[in-house]
Formats: sequence, C-alpha cells, structure tokens
Amino acid sequence: MTQDELKALVGQAALKHVVPGEIVGVGTGSTVNKFIDALAAMKDRIPGAVSSSVASTERLRALGIPVFDANEVGELAVYIDGADEIDPRGHMIKGGGAALTREKIVAAQSRRFVCIADESKLVQALGAFPVPVEVIPMAAARITRLFAAKGGQARLRIKDGAPLVTDNGQHILDVAGLRIADPLAFESEVNQWPGVVTVGVFAHQKAAVCLLGTAAGVRQLD
Ligand code: A5P
Repeated sequence: MTQDELKALVGQAALKHVVPGEIVGVGTGSTVNKFIDALAAMKDRIPGAVSSSVASTERLRALGIPVFDANEVGELAVYIDGADEIDPRGHMIKGGGAALTREKIVAAQSRRFVCIADESKLVQALGAFPVPVEVIPMAAARITRLFAAKGGQARLRIKDGAPLVTDNGQHILDVAGLRIADPLAFESEVNQWPGVVTVGVFAHQKAAVCLLGTAAGVRQLD
C-alpha cells in the first residue's frame, strides 16, 4: 500500500470515533484531508466541525460541512488530527503543516484526541523530526539561542523565499537535534519562554488513541 492509501485507510477508520449529534474537532494535514473527505458521508449526522486551520475550514465548507468558531461552542467530544511523530504513550510532535497553535487549542477544547497516522510516524522517542515552534518574530533570535543551549539547531521556516507566516500572523522555527526524554517537562519549559506562541510537542494534549495505518490494516494504539 502507498503512504497515500494508508492515510486514506486511517481517515476512513476515524469515522467510528465521530460521535453522532456532536460537533467534531478537525485537525490539519494530508492525513486529515482524507478524514475530511470521508466525513462528508456522515455530514447529515453531525452539526458540523471546529477547524484548526484556514485550509481545513475551506475543505470542510467545500464539502458542505458547517464550521463553527471555537468560541461559539463548548467542550467537544473528540478531536481528530495527524502527527509528525507519535510515541507509544501518545505524545506527539506536530506542526509540520504550521497549524500547531490552533491544533493545540482545539485539542485542549476536546475530551479525546484521536490521532490518525501512517505507521512511519510511530517512534520510540520523539525528536528525529525537527520540532516546530510558533514564535513572535521579534523573539526568534533569542529563542534560537535558548534552543542552542539545549543542543538544538533552530531554523526559521521559509516559504516561497520569505519567512512563512502562520494563520495567526507569526513565524515558525524548526528545531533539529533535540533529545526529548521527558515530553511533558520539555513542553512546560519551552512554553515559559517569552515569545513562544506554541511548541509543537503535544504532551499535555496527548493522543488518547492512535489509529496507525499499516500494510496489514489499521492498528489501534490505546
Ligand atoms: C499540521 O500542522 C500538523 O500538525 C499535521 O497534523 C502533521 O504535520 C501531520 O501532517 P500529515 O498528515 O500531512 O503528515
């Protein structure tokens, strides 16, 4: 099976976790795009979605799925999103698609995070994938130095020859070379640095369930 087919497999499997009658939280990325496409088949059974990015909002609306502002609704039953890395305990690195801040907000607003990913995303310890960190631009150089002191090399994410600007008007640093032995402590520490909007380690908002796409089918990690 191709990686694209594995993503489609878990996107479809995630429908079982959508609660009929409840608004669903929707993440961002190529795997979530498969989920959104599958969700169209049950759009008459849910009021709609809360979305984590402009891209997902456009895709949902194009399929006729209403999108609510996060402030208009209360706690969500479930949030469905992909990951760049996930460990066996459900800790993740996210933000490869630059949507990490809104993803963390919608995840925090949801009772249950269901991660959907192809099996290449499962790792024993986080850190091979450079950690995305959304930052206020004027703090980027200082945050780069703080990561260097931890052995990390931070690079400003560039798109079309200029710094990438997120949906929130900020920049992204991608930090390579980090050893993240304790994801919860790492997330808490980096969150304290002035100018950090969101760190792309999801340990406080970790996955309750992961649906992994494998050649043998969908493997569920609880
Ligand atoms: C978006 O910012 C990310 O957190 C994505 O969820 C993550 O990068 C996984 O994306 P893919 O499903 O495209 O691999």
